[in-house]
Amino acid sequence: MQDAFRRKIDYLRISITDKCNLRCIYCMPEEGIPLKPHEEILRFEEILRLVKIAAGLGISKIRLTGGEPLVRRGVVSLIRDLTRIPGITDVSLTTNGLLLTKMGPDLKRAGLKRLNISLDTLEPEKYRSITRGGSLKQVWEGIETALDLSFCPVKINTVVMRGINDDEILDFVRLTYLYPLHIRFIECMPIGEADGWARQHLVPQAEIKARVEEGFKLELKAETGILGSGPASYYHLSGALGSVGFISPLSVHFCPACNRLRLTADGKLRPCLNSQRELDLKGPLREGANDEKLREIFLEAVRKKPQGHLMNETDWNQPRMMYQIGG
Ligand code: 5AD
Ligand code: SF4
Repeated sequence: MQDAFRRKIDYLRISITDKCNLRCIYCMPEEGIPLKPHEEILRFEEILRLVKIAAGLGISKIRLTGGEPLVRRGVVSLIRDLTRIPGITDVSLTTNGLLLTKMGPDLKRAGLKRLNISLDTLEPEKYRSITRGGSLKQVWEGIETALDLSFCPVKINTVVMRGINDDEILDFVRLTYLYPLHIRFIECMPIGEADGWARQHLVPQAEIKARVEEGFKLELKAETGILGSGPASYYHLSGALGSVGFISPLSVHFCPACNRLRLTADGKLRPCLNSQRELDLKGPLREGANDEKLREIFLEAVRKKPQGHLMNETDWNQPRMMYQIGG
């Protein structure tokens, strides 16, 4: 599939739950979120049907997100079934890592190869306060489990916030010398809980990069290889096992390289992370739509993909919270 701006769309991100076992300050409200009635959430067989249709249209890569995808019961069997769909060549997962020690071996057996783990600080106390209660030790064990099980690549998503964790940028870079981890520094977006304060805490990519370069020499990786074709630009550091990347939704527009659609847990197809637009799939699915009708909804979403997000516009209005979209 190709959109109106000649971008190839071959990637579908699927949020399988709004729920999470953490409450990160930029994402979830402290008191948690209202529970969605069970029947509003797509069942696994519905997700599998949609993915088969999407695969027929050229989607080859799937990423499961949340909330926290590992809290949804049955996720391991979903992954196994997804990897068996003809045309799906890559299934990955974005997780906060808390359940990886427990679930890593099963995830590996199910056919999962790649993992993105969210980690914003290497200090236990700070981790507890950013995630409102999480245990850094538990995540770190999860990361070690992932490396022991040879998940590859293991990427670390680090949301950089001025005055909160920007003093740790070089500590994260140092990790790439000790472990084959791919650290991706992400600009904090003014959505979700961060809507009101992200801009005050924004550290633009150029500044993060300049700070890294005070300590290390970065060489741009021309060929991203196993790291995929997403919105990050990756750099190699001489002698390191891993790499460093930057995802800059705000200061450098990553939209021209966008290759994705998003499916929310309640069955809406989103052409773009940040546009208000979404197309209902769950309704037609449950009203008995045939494959052709559902295929048309995917094609419509691709046609409606905007050229870029409007996060930098002053009248921009966020449509949904991050835990509903899946990052
Ligand atoms: N800005 C940037 N990244 C965010 N995430 C959640 N909320 C935000 C935000 N406001 C990230 C998480 C995780 C991924 C799923 O999305 O840190 O790595
Ligand atoms: Fe949970 Fe991820 Fe949101 Fe943190 S950022 S509260 S781990 S969904």
